[in-house]
Amino acid sequence: MALRIVPFRNAFLWNFAVGMGFWLISVVSAGKAPSSKYLIGVGSYDLTGPVADVNLMGYADPGQNAAGLHFRLRSRAFIVAEEAAAKSSDKGKRFVFVNLDACMASQGVTLKVLSRLKERFGGLYNEKNVAISGIHTHSGPGGYLQYILYIITSLGFVRQSFNAIVDGIEKSIIQAHENLRLGSLYTNQGELLDANINRSPSAYLNNPPEERQQFKYNVDKDMVLLKFVDAKWGAVGALNWFAVHGTSMNRSNLLVSGDNKGAASRFMEDWYGRQTAGTHLLIPESKPARLDARKFQIMPSLVSVPVHRAVEIGVGLRSAGGKPASRFASINHRVRSRIRSSSEPPFVAAFAQTNEGDVSPNILGAFCEDTGQPCDFNHSTCNGKNELCVGRGPGYPDHFASTKIIAQRQFKKAVELFESARKIISGKVDYRQKYVDFSRVTVTLPQDVAGKSSQNVTTCPAAVGFSFAAGTTDGHGAFNFEQGDDHGNLFWRLVRSALKTPTAEQAACQKPKPILIDTGEMSIPSPWAVKT
Ligand SMILES: *[C@@H]1O[C@H](CO)[C@@H](O)[C@H](O)[C@H]1NC(C)=O
Ligand SMILES: *[C@@H]1O[C@H](CO)[C@@H](O)[C@H](O)[C@H]1NC(C)=O
Ligand SMILES: *[C@@H]1O[C@H](CO)[C@@H](O)[C@H](O)[C@H]1NC(C)=O
Repeated sequence: MALRIVPFRNAFLWNFAVGMGFWLISVVSAGKAPSSKYLIGVGSYDLTGPVADVNLMGYADPGQNAAGLHFRLRSRAFIVAEEAAAKSSDKGKRFVFVNLDACMASQGVTLKVLSRLKERFGGLYNEKNVAISGIHTHSGPGGYLQYILYIITSLGFVRQSFNAIVDGIEKSIIQAHENLRLGSLYTNQGELLDANINRSPSAYLNNPPEERQQFKYNVDKDMVLLKFVDAKWGAVGALNWFAVHGTSMNRSNLLVSGDNKGAASRFMEDWYGRQTAGTHLLIPESKPARLDARKFQIMPSLVSVPVHRAVEIGVGLRSAGGKPASRFASINHRVRSRIRSSSEPPFVAAFAQTNEGDVSPNILGAFCEDTGQPCDFNHSTCNGKNELCVGRGPGYPDHFASTKIIAQRQFKKAVELFESARKIISGKVDYRQKYVDFSRVTVTLPQDVAGKSSQNVTTCPAAVGFSFAAGTTDGHGAFNFEQGDDHGNLFWRLVRSALKTPTAEQAACQKPKPILIDTGEMSIPSPWAVKT
């Protein structure tokens, strides 16, 4: 019996296809009195890689090869450990979240990073507590995944891309580890309405009405933010999740770029830099010995500290609680003494990707390039032609402007949430990691779906349908493929058979989706899709 799949036109690009493992990392709230004492550390390192003659990862267009740089790409790492987890010991739990300015993480990259971390830190960071997440830019160098489907357009594996990404991740984690210090975590959340839309609204309507009724919008508009506050230095990091594709830079782009999320990170880090670049306090480096008091007055050795930082540190200190403040207990004295004894950590702002299937930054909608009219609602075509239907960003036709606008909207919302974050996170640190073989998941169909009585069915190996090759309105596919296609066509069936004809069982299981490439059952010269 075939598993009935609700038509879901998520199409193209490599949205969810990468990886059988998934991560859920959580800071479990114990619900006790608010105290937030963790070791927190942030790190950031370049991972740009080659910027010429390498296929860009995302649009799967063999002609879209890098020919320059829009802006550099980074890996941004955040570590949270229980206070008991003193550096390099196994006491207390910890986790690492890495945000990559890349289309996605890759199993090969993750395995390599984990083996390097193992050499350096023993078992401290491992597959269970390290999560690596990509921002889904469609303008980063490709070729760093090990499965064939993802490296067809890059004409194979590109070691330069792979190495740059692995090195960047490793260095950012090392930096975050070395920055681990006592601190607190705050969280905040809010709606951002003008930065994403559903690019396949007709497919969304295939969801049952009672399910749709549970949601206010046809995409997720929530941004969720974590604020990292070092007990001594004040804010050192911001990490947020908001769903929107990295397709503000369109398919014609040849410059390596972090697209809207990469740009938003830069805007926020620059913003914080400007905040702290203003007026500085000059603080004596160390307390002068008595005899040197006069010399000190003449030629003090001073540490320059931005006022903004000093205020943040002051805000983080506990008050004297009504007792008269002695000279040493005064906030003034404590702020100064904190600033004296170490160097200022970097400020790292990461804009992470989340449930972005069919969520587009091209918020003006999709239009026909020839007539300027909206595309056919059900098939995203113009007069039957798929190539002419293209989504428009708010800066249309200038994709640099669109990238900047969508980045600024995320950046401004993140700053707002960051500055008003009051909810402190407390409790133990914990995480979950699990491998799921999606080619063998049993699903129980309720009676109203299965017919006579409820029924157990199983999923089958991965396969790419004809609609996949149509692409999406963010970047169309080649030839005459069409979105929402549930019958395919003869010519492409013939091409497909030259690769591999799906078994009858596989075809029945994938029905009503016609199979274009039977990726889950192909392993020549090596597996085409993720396998166990
Ligand atoms: C889209 O398809 C649905 C279901 O087949 C149909 O009811 C609707 O009229 C179509 N809409 C347009 C604009 O073609
Ligand atoms: C893609 O962006 C380029 C550069 O801004 C622009 O010239 C072109 O018209 C855009 N294409 C579409 C379909 O928006
Ligand atoms: C489906 O599987 C579940 C769990 O294994 C089992 O309890 C149930 O009886 C099965 N139902 C049918 C209709 O086979």
